[in-house]
Amino acid sequence: MKILVTYDMFREGFAELESKYEVTFPEGRDFTYEEVYEMIPEYDVLCSMFDFPVNKELIDHAPKLRLIANYAVGYNNIDVAYAIEKGLTVANTPDPVTAPTANIALGLLLDAARRITECDRKLRTLGKKMKVGVLENLGAPVTGQTLGIIGMGRIGKALAKRANAMGMEVIYHNRHQLYIEEETKLNVTYVTKEELLAKADFVSLNAPYTPETYHIIGEEELRRMKRSAILINTARGPLVDEHALVKALREGEIRAAGLDVFEFGDYPLPELLELDNVVLTPHIGTQTLETRIIMAKAVCDNVIGFLEGDRPVSRVLRP
Ligand code: GLV
Repeated sequence: MKILVTYDMFREGFAELESKYEVTFPEGRDFTYEEVYEMIPEYDVLCSMFDFPVNKELIDHAPKLRLIANYAVGYNNIDVAYAIEKGLTVANTPDPVTAPTANIALGLLLDAARRITECDRKLRTLGKKMKVGVLENLGAPVTGQTLGIIGMGRIGKALAKRANAMGMEVIYHNRHQLYIEEETKLNVTYVTKEELLAKADFVSLNAPYTPETYHIIGEEELRRMKRSAILINTARGPLVDEHALVKALREGEIRAAGLDVFEFGDYPLPELLELDNVVLTPHIGTQTLETRIIMAKAVCDNVIGFLEGDRPVSRVLRP
């Protein structure tokens, strides 16, 4: 059984897998797509990172492949429909991702509302030329405000709990409405997307990236949001039309944004870097040492569970 890991990773999480199987890792960098393409015919299992494309071409070049174990809850990097059609299993790592991602969403929400990073940046760059005083640097309130969550899966629910604890009202929109018992427990109210955009003081995106969620926030949606609203995206960049967002932030159509993911890859549009009313982080939703290791363990559990049947596998059942 040969296992190919496309990314460089702390080995603690992979100890059990390495003790049982032949595992190939890149050293000090990730494998390129071309390298993986060359190697894949020999491998039974592919452990991919969320930004590594597992497409038809690669799957067709992998006669022995049985399992694609993604290091992420999201799997938009994988052609899941084709993989399943070819009889492959696809697995992901939802559990370890939930709390850290909800925490980053909350951090961006607070930061964008209270202008924490903006003030820090101005203190450093302007020094005593920065305007300070009780009437300067006014932020937006959080407690008592309404948070609209688009995508009420694990991360959306974890964020709802955090928002509730801060005294926010939580409304949500999702493909399916939750059972009433769960809504009551989470203290959340289901609304249409239009209602959510009209009512929310904060809109947080916590949905997977699919053809249906591409540009779920575009020009039209930004116009429907309150002028005082703040947009948070910790899901995937293409959920937001980033060009439209630049315009909305510049022209005051919405108040601010907090983004951990960008539409065109690892970096935001340069125009966003010029704006003070946006907080930007480079996809650090799960970026703690502990989470990195726990996610690696979850990948290994999926691989060993798949090969040996001794533990549950988090299977992706549909695209
Ligand atoms: C991170 O982005 C993930 O999908 O887990």
